[in-house]
Amino acid sequence: MARRRIIAGNWKMNKTPSEAVALCAELKDLVKNDAVDVVYCVPAIDIVPVVEAVKGTNVHVGAENFYIEDKGAFTGEISAPMLKDAGVEYIIIGHSERRDIFGENDVLINQKVKKAFEAGLKPILCCGESLALRKAGTYQEWIKRQITWDLSGVTADQVKNLVIAYEPIWAIGTGETATADQAEEVCKMIRETIAEMYDAPTAEAVRIQYGGSMNAGNAAELLSKADIDGGLIGGASLKPDFGKIVNA
Ligand code: PGA
Repeated sequence: MARRRIIAGNWKMNKTPSEAVALCAELKDLVKNDAVDVVYCVPAIDIVPVVEAVKGTNVHVGAENFYIEDKGAFTGEISAPMLKDAGVEYIIIGHSERRDIFGENDVLINQKVKKAFEAGLKPILCCGESLALRKAGTYQEWIKRQITWDLSGVTADQVKNLVIAYEPIWAIGTGETATADQAEEVCKMIRETIAEMYDAPTAEAVRIQYGGSMNAGNAAELLSKADIDGGLIGGASLKPDFGKIVNA
């Protein structure tokens, strides 16, 4: 079964609402490709205008964060049902910036994955190792543990609709990309982990992205690998280059 490619932009904290609408217009024709799921994961305040701006195009909208409760006294937070109602389809969970800067641990990340599915959102679950773990050679065990914890209690049917993004922290925003072979090694290992946790059809269905300084120059080689089904793109998602990645 061929998995459908998914190219997602992670805009991070970069565009004001009016800048976001302008970027949608700039990218509109460049990201056309009926064979690829194209997603813009945008800051919360940009969601409503971006949903409006991409209406009638092939672009899907994702969010970058939410809190696990549906409603209540959680000043400053946004819930999964709020995102769903606003037209969001995908949600990034477990990004290394949220783990490292905002202290999100695997217990919370697991709760977020379950809540996202409950609300009808598709999680893009991020995992990946630090440079220290890469150098120590223990990165595979680390990633396996992240996946096992983050998917605790998640069903096979849910995992079939999950996207996993392998993002080595040392490659995020650094200009240093994992080689296609390094990325494939880990993406393959993640798929094998899913096969062990669930079964072969679930492992075949789950889509796995690479993320970390993916750009117009290196995308085609990374995406040519058997277990790399797409990309999660930060810096290059804010530029016309994003269209080249979509069509790589
Ligand atoms: P980058 O970010 O493409 O700028 O390295 C990727 C990410 O953090 O998702």
